[in-house]
Amino acid sequence: MILISENITADIDPFLPTNEQEPIFILTDTNTEIYCLPLLKTHPRLSNAHVITIPSGDEHKNLNSLTEVWHYLSDNGATRHSLLINLGGGMITDMGGFAAATFKRGMDFINIPTTLLGAIDAATGGKTGINYLGFKNEIGAFAPAKAVIINSRFFETLDMPNLLSGFAEMVKHALIADSDLLQKTLSFDLDNIDYKALLHLTKTNLDIKAKIVAEDPHELGIRKALNFGHTFGHAFETLSYQTREPMLHGYAVIWGLVCELYLSYTQLHLPQKTVMDVLYFAKENYGTFPFSCKQYDALFELMKHDKKNEAQEINFTLLSDVGHVEINQKTTKEAIFETLDWLQSM
Ligand SMILES: NC(=O)c1ccc[n+]([C@@H]2O[C@H](COP(=O)([O-])OP(=O)(O)OC[C@H]3O[C@@H](n4cnc5c(N)ncnc54)[C@H](O)[C@@H]3O)[C@@H](O)[C@H]2O)c1
Ligand SMILES: [Zn+2]
Repeated sequence: MILISENITADIDPFLPTNEQEPIFILTDTNTEIYCLPLLKTHPRLSNAHVITIPSGDEHKNLNSLTEVWHYLSDNGATRHSLLINLGGGMITDMGGFAAATFKRGMDFINIPTTLLGAIDAATGGKTGINYLGFKNEIGAFAPAKAVIINSRFFETLDMPNLLSGFAEMVKHALIADSDLLQKTLSFDLDNIDYKALLHLTKTNLDIKAKIVAEDPHELGIRKALNFGHTFGHAFETLSYQTREPMLHGYAVIWGLVCELYLSYTQLHLPQKTVMDVLYFAKENYGTFPFSCKQYDALFELMKHDKKNEAQEINFTLLSDVGHVEINQKTTKEAIFETLDWLQSM
């Protein structure tokens, strides 16, 4: 269940364990502990909840942090009927969801996304997991949260890069949904954010995602639409972790979208205007594309590792038009390198 909430302490009530003796755990990172936990703690039953805090940053979505969560739950009497509240961005909801899904073979968890990316994407849809051996989300499980409660008050303390990171997923949803939404999304005033309008756009995005996930919860078919931009995007993100300043997920995704739009144009005749509109939006808001031809081979190797692949072939989701998704598209190494050359030249 996904709730857009004006009053989080009232709205969380029905999801708390009925047995008042059952312990409640809140997982935060070092930032959400400061910016978001105080509001949650105003609820009488949460004021004394156990708080597990791990350092912020995606590099901590790892086995060490996961072990810490399991250890804490175990040491503090968590049972299958206890509740874990994941209060944070995608790092916390991914890892906390996985910790809950595996602890004693599964305890309930609620996600309260505190980043735009979390609200739009990570906290809903049931994908949980951690990074492992340098690969994003290498270990994980499908496990839906008992509830996802979204309150836009949390977005107000987010810095601009993290806001833009979430916004890239909104561009993705608009591209796979319809051209009116795409125009509305690309013209959203990011210099002067209207949080009410942003929440409204968030709702529309959640409906798009929920409809696709309901049709194909385990990503056997149409759910791959949600991976648009992510074959290149995950390769950019992973490589950035190995060679330079880590890129935020949405920054990798926006360049991934641009690349996969270009492939859609060359392979499926997507109108060129769509490619250029998103390219200009990316350049205006997300800076310059940060990779060079020296990294093409490494990027290609990473794409070969993508979870959507079957039998060693790289599997892309492409568009024949805005709102017209074509899954399981194959392409050549040459076409991938040509796409990167094109983006570098723009
Ligand atoms: N499960 C999925 O379907 C899915 C989908 C997309 C992304 N993801 C995952 O989500 C993660 C990225 O999520 P993210 O961008 O939310 O990252 P994040 O959780 O690391 O949060 C980004 C930064 O914002 C800080 N922060 C969080 N809430 C804040 C607030 N309200 N005010 C101020 N600062 C705040 C965090 O401490 C962190 O420094 C990645 O691990 C990615 O793989 C998962
Ligand atoms: Zn994403």
